[in-house]
Amino acid sequence: MSSVKNNQKITYIQQNNEFDYLESLIKTFPQGESIGILLFGPPGTGKTLLSITLAKHFEAPYYFIDGSPDLDRRDLEGNWELKKGYTEFNYGPLTRAIKDANDNGISFIIINEVNAIRESEQISLNSLLSENHINLISKGFERHELKSESKLIIIGTMNKGVVGINKLQESFGDRFIIAPEITYPKKTKEIEIVSKISGCEKIVAEIVVDAAHQIRKQATEDYSISHLFSTRLIVNFCLLITKMPPNYLDENIKNCIIHKLGDTVEERKSIAMILDGKMFKQKLGAILTGDSPKLQKKSSKKIKESKSYPESLKDDEISVIERMKRAKNDYIKKYGYGQIFRKNGEFMWKFFEWMWNFKREILRNYIKLTENLDFHRIYKSTTGKNHIYRGKITLKYIHWIYKHKNYDLVIFMKRFYPVF
Ligand SMILES: Nc1ncnc2c1ncn2[C@@H]1O[C@H](COP(=O)(O)OP(=O)(O)O)[C@@H](O)[C@H]1O
Ligand SMILES: [Mg+2]
Repeated sequence: MSSVKNNQKITYIQQNNEFDYLESLIKTFPQGESIGILLFGPPGTGKTLLSITLAKHFEAPYYFIDGSPDLDRRDLEGNWELKKGYTEFNYGPLTRAIKDANDNGISFIIINEVNAIRESEQISLNSLLSENHINLISKGFERHELKSESKLIIIGTMNKGVVGINKLQESFGDRFIIAPEITYPKKTKEIEIVSKISGCEKIVAEIVVDAAHQIRKQATEDYSISHLFSTRLIVNFCLLITKMPPNYLDENIKNCIIHKLGDTVEERKSIAMILDGKMFKQKLGAILTGDSPKLQKKSSKKIKESKSYPESLKDDEISVIERMKRAKNDYIKKYGYGQIFRKNGEFMWKFFEWMWNFKREILRNYIKLTENLDFHRIYKSTTGKNHIYRGKITLKYIHWIYKHKNYDLVIFMKRFYPVF
């Protein structure tokens, strides 16, 4: 059980209009009332994230409770603690949330896996949900009541269809006003969610989402796979393969997908077969190491001849660019495409550091082209330093561009003197 305030940074991306709908409901509902919302659906579809994102949207304090069969009424309401020589009452998340709502106008209680709470303890939430107050039995029936100008939002999330956990007690479930179902997103939406949240390239998300949909289909059709391929799992996998060197792709497929979804040898085999049938590893491998036809096209000579370079470029400039491109491809083979750009599209220093260590002359010749955009003059006027030392571009200058002109450098390398 926890009643900590969570500091998650990522926000929920809505599939249809579920976020707007809940926002509108919370806004519309009269003050002085608790609003119970029951979100249900398969695991890893963002139910918890949606609840947190809502609380943040309303700038509301929120309490987070992890439902479990061990959860006791006193964990929710508060309990007496024996200190040195005296006892002190620790107020629980329910009472604290009421106080916060009264102080702030609004507060949230988010109960994860609300159906894992024992039926006898679910009752403790009943009076809060329907009568907007609780009486603390263990503190002489002390009454905590929601003020008439405050709102308390209680969101319970539950994984539907997961066996082995309790049902909601009829009278408890009944007190929630609405029960929206959150299911797996459609393919195009899931690709958007995955690439935004994990920061991977869209084409990587496309391949993984496509395989996940096939495996989900199999799992629901003939129950041959125990666990469902959740959006959470796709996000985690994409994050791993784009951040880790591509030579770990095999391990990541096994550890992050096959072993997590399949419990038995047969199940694992059937997942592996689906992946093989889709050339999963080959396709991802090609993209992560930069061998993909899509990426190669950009660097092939044919394109050079068909004027993909700006016409103003001279032949010797093009040959500097070509050499830089090959060096960049060597880097991608070693570290993967995900180790060049940050999520926000800016360069990582790691890339230039590697170039400096292993392809120094190529990098220097290429960076010299920035003189055409007058970067070196700005460098001189702001730092007082020369960008050239003994006839060669300095590392300080490269670092300065990286630090102060990162975005311009991206444009420079993508458009003016295209390496990507
Ligand atoms: N619609 C979505 N928007 C953003 N992230 C999502 C979405 N759906 C799933 N995710 C990813 O899945 C993770 C798990 O979501 P979570 O809220 O814990 O799922 P649930 O509570 O349904 O089991 C999130 O942290 C996020 O990385
Ligand atoms: Mg959850």
